This record gives sequence, structure tokens and C-alpha cells, in this order.
Amino acid sequence: MGLATGSSPLATYAELVRRYEGEEISFAAVQVFLLDEYVGLEAGDPQSYRAFIEREFISRIDLPKENLHSPDVADAGLETSGDRYESTIAAVGGIDLQLLGIGTDGHIGFNEPSSSLGSRTRLKTLTAASRADNARFFDNNLDQVPRHVVTQGVGTILDAGHLVLTATGPDKAGPVARAIEGPLTAMVPASALQLHPHATVVLDDAAASKLELADYYRETFAGKPSWQSV
Ligand code: F6R
Repeated sequence: MGLATGSSPLATYAELVRRYEGEEISFAAVQVFLLDEYVGLEAGDPQSYRAFIEREFISRIDLPKENLHSPDVADAGLETSGDRYESTIAAVGGIDLQLLGIGTDGHIGFNEPSSSLGSRTRLKTLTAASRADNARFFDNNLDQVPRHVVTQGVGTILDAGHLVLTATGPDKAGPVARAIEGPLTAMVPASALQLHPHATVVLDDAAASKLELADYYRETFAGKPSWQSV
């Protein structure tokens, strides 16, 4: 599995924990890859994405500790971190299920607008919009928000077997509409989902409010043949 951090997937993680506790599923044989990690935080910083995912999800399931992978953001070797992460993903046979959120600027992972649609895991600089959006995790102090991340690339994300993007709230309505119904463009990295043969987008009404064909999507979903899953 590939996992996003941030607010959007929290309900999904809560549901997976519920199913684990109900003994419906186990993560004992799963390998988990984070989408991205901040550069420049102290090791173990509670706001690192590794700490976030351990707190919100991994500590509550039976995933073996060594099966949690995140980009290496140590200063030494930063230039090869992306390639090493790609090799680790490849060594386990790739990512079957990738959970995603979307930034207000249209990013997936931290592939900011103008990221190559063929990009692989690498160092990226966050946009001002992304840093402002994430300041809530840093006591609303913009100065504390890191400027750099190592993120899976758009090409890396597109290699996963199934993409599931979750978005809620009115702030996501614009980027969601641009990603789903706008042109395929590096200016909206999430529009790359249009290239993927198996992408599922889960929205609340507010996040879906700017979709031109929302009624058609509801009709399609309601009329899905029973053999066709999401
Ligand atoms: C986080 C990530 C980002 C977030 C996006 C939405 O690992 O890759 O793309 O998914 O910034 O964040 P939230 O869900 O907090 O609105």
C-alpha cells in the first residue's frame, strides 16, 4: 500500500483500524510506502509524516515495524534518496493500492504545479500555498513549515495498481474539478489520474460541488453492474 498523510485519509485509516480490530483484515504481510516526507525536521519530530502515520494508523494495526517505508530525508545522501526509494518499491513488486489526497493547488504527493507528469521520487520545493495549508500542523507558524520534501513522483504514483483519491470540503472543489474535468496538465498534477486505468475519487458534496457532470457520475455509480467494483 502507498499511504498519504494529512487530513483527507484519516477516515479511511479509522475504518481500516475498525476492520482490523474486528479481525476482518490483517496487515501482517503488507508493505507500506509513504508518499512523501519533509526535509529538515529533526529525526522523530512529531510533525514528520512518518511520526504522523505511526500515530494515526500504524501503531493501531499489526503491520511489522520493518514493513513501514518512508523516503530517507537525512542530509547525507539526499541526492540519491529518490532512486533508493524507487528501488525499495520495485523490490517488493510495486504498489498495489495508493491512497491520495489533493492539495488546494492541485498537487498529489508533493508534486507541485509544473511537476513533470513522468517524474519519479525526488526532492521538491513546496509552493507557498502548500506551506500555508500545512501551517496548521506547525502551530500556524509558517516559519516552522519545511520548504522541501522528498516525494514520490507523478510517474511513480501512476505505476500503482489502483489509485484512490479522497477529498472533502469546499476548498477542494476547485482543484478536484480541474483534476477530473480539466485538461491533462502538469499545472494540475492530479489531472494525471486521467491517464490511469483504475482510479477512484471519493468526494463529499462540498468537494464535488464544482463538477460539471456530477449528476452523470451519481447516475453511473447507482447503475453500476453488480460485478463491477470501484
Ligand atoms: C500528504 C500528501 C499531500 C496531501 C494533500 C492534501 O502525504 O501527499 O498531497 O494529501 O496536501 O492534504 P490534506 O488531506 O491535509 O488536505
